[in-house]
Parts: sequence; structure tokens; C-alpha cells
Amino acid sequence: MNKTIAVIRGDGIGPEIVGETLGVLDAVAAKFGHTFTYREAPMGGCAIDAFGVPLPDSSLAACLASDSVLLGAVGGPKWDGQPAGNRPERGLLKLREAMGLYTNVRPARMFSDLSAACPLRPDIAAGGIDFVVVRELIGGMYFGRHTTWEENGELRAEDVCSYSEHEIRRVARVAFDMARKRRRRVTSIDKANVLDTSRLWRRTVTAVAEEYPDVELLHMYVDNAAMQIVRDPGQFDVIVTENLFGDILSDEASQITGSIGMIPSSSMGEGTRGMYEPIHGSAPDIAGQDKANPIGTVLAAAMMLRYSFDMAAEAAAVEAAVDGVLKEGWRCGDIMQGGGRPVGCREMGRLIREHI
Ligand code: IPM
Ligand code: MG
Repeated sequence: MNKTIAVIRGDGIGPEIVGETLGVLDAVAAKFGHTFTYREAPMGGCAIDAFGVPLPDSSLAACLASDSVLLGAVGGPKWDGQPAGNRPERGLLKLREAMGLYTNVRPARMFSDLSAACPLRPDIAAGGIDFVVVRELIGGMYFGRHTTWEENGELRAEDVCSYSEHEIRRVARVAFDMARKRRRRVTSIDKANVLDTSRLWRRTVTAVAEEYPDVELLHMYVDNAAMQIVRDPGQFDVIVTENLFGDILSDEASQITGSIGMIPSSSMGEGTRGMYEPIHGSAPDIAGQDKANPIGTVLAAAMMLRYSFDMAAEAAAVEAAVDGVLKEGWRCGDIMQGGGRPVGCREMGRLIREHI
């Protein structure tokens, strides 16, 4: 098959981890007889430096014309002084919206070889950690009106949070469909004791649940959920929640696995085109030092193969290669434990390619 992939290397460690991942994709192409064509799509701080804006039209066009998008990470302190509308993050939000990527899937899974890195008490993590956060990605406060004005001699600001039923329904269906392939339990998270958007969220998710009588639906307030994730993570299978709550809870969920550098995520809309990226950020403090862990991005590429290109065997080959490298004890700094064999980003990439 021939597939075109828009490549957003981004900022910080982005270029290093994406570089290694493209090497892995090349190894997959060679082994399985595919052709992957990469189309560079600068976005984020590097695009501000080169074009003055975080998402140039040419990059947006490249993403919309490709079969899928692979993203490293964007942002960094260098661009903190940019006006709100021109920050690196704006590029990412604009791209999500333009591509219609309303569902963001972020697995929180503890790798059995890495359980020693889990920051939770062993008795809490004993049952394993394996749940998925399904986050609504193009609605809510992120995409409401943002305003700052002067009132009574001081500044005042507001960010409007709104949701329509159809925006809730479509992401809820993704969560229920996913639960059917897992342990058949959806926990919907909201703040329905305070917010109208949350009351609509709860009512709409409850109505969707009627289409899925074989899946159990639970509701939980977001403050309680933040606590339950560290108290008893084993109770969760699929979490579904709105944009801002999902942003916060997915960081918490990935951190408790002890391997945030290893976790991929996918963003999808209607169709098969998606955007795939690691969960972690651009880590400017270790950029350019060959210290980053490329595994999160490599596993994101595996998700791309499986979900956007329908290449299950190819995806499994990538995941098996990563498992093989970990079994042999190779570790980047973020997942290093006593007895591990330390490697940098480039060497980790080479080892994974060798295992393909
Ligand atoms: C994420 C990030 C983004 C978000 C930022 C960079 C805009 O935190 O993907 O979780 O808030 O969605
Ligand atoms: Mg976030």
C-alpha cells in the first residue's frame, strides 16, 4: 500500500523522537512491501520562528491532504511571550478543529516489565493498571469565547464552556464501542452537581447507554475521579469525559503508570484519518541531548498503522519489537531501573528497527 503521512516534528525533543519513529516506519515499509511518503508540516514554536504563525496554511493543507498525521510535541518556554492567539498550542488546537478530531484516546497501561516505576503503593497497583481515557477534543471551554476586558478599574476575563448534544453523543458512542472490546464498563466523568454543561453531558451519555445494554455505565464527579484514579485505578475500564476534565485526568492517568514516556495517543474524527502522538510533552530541558525516549511516538505510529491504515500485522510487529527491546533490558533514562541497560534516543530507535 501507498500511504502519505504528514509529519509534525515540532519543538524540544519532538524532532529526535519523530526521527527515530520514521526510521521504524521505514523498516515496516521494507518488511511488508509498503511505501510511506512523508510530508513535512512545521507546526508549533518552530513554525512561529520560521513563518511567524504556529500553524502555517501550507502545514494545515499538508495534514488535510495526507492519510494521517504523526506528531512529536510542540511548545516550550521560548514562546511563552507570544500573544495568546499565536502560541504554539494554538496551532495544535486549530489543527484538531480543522481536521474534526473530536475523540482523543489515551490509554493508561502499566507495562509489566516496568511496574517498579509505578509511583503508587504496590498494593494499590497490584491488580494492574489498564484503562483508557476517551476525551472530547474540540468542544467545551477550549473552543468557547475567550475574553479579557476592563471593568470597575480592573481586568476581568471569561472563557465560555458549551456543549451541544450531538458533540456529546458522538464521543460517547466511541467510548461505548471501545468498552465492548474491553471489560464493558464506561465511567462518565462530569461536574453535574454544579455545571449545566455537565448536566447535559450526563443526560446525553445516559441516553446513549440505552443503545449499549451490555455495557455498564457509571457516573462520577471529576473531583472524586481525580482521587479514585490514585486510590483504586483498577476500577476503571473506559473513562469518557469533556475536553478540559480529560486534559487534566489523562495527565494524571498516564503518570501513575510510571511510564508516561511510553504511552501513545490517537485523535480521530469521522473517517480513518487521525493524528497520532505520544502523551508526553516537548521536554525542552533534555532536547538535543539524545536522552529522550522515542517509544511513546513509536507506539503512536503503531496505532496509526492499526487504526488509520488497517495494518494489524504491521502494528503488531512494531509493538512486539518494542516488547522485545524492553525484555532485553534496554532502557532510556525515564524508565531506567537498577540492572537496566542504558541507551539514548538514537540507540533505542536502532534497536527497535533491528527487532522489526
Ligand atoms: C494535550 C495538551 C494540549 C491540550 C495543549 C498543548 C494545548 O496539554 O494534548 O493534552 O491542552 O489539549
Ligand atoms: Mg494536556
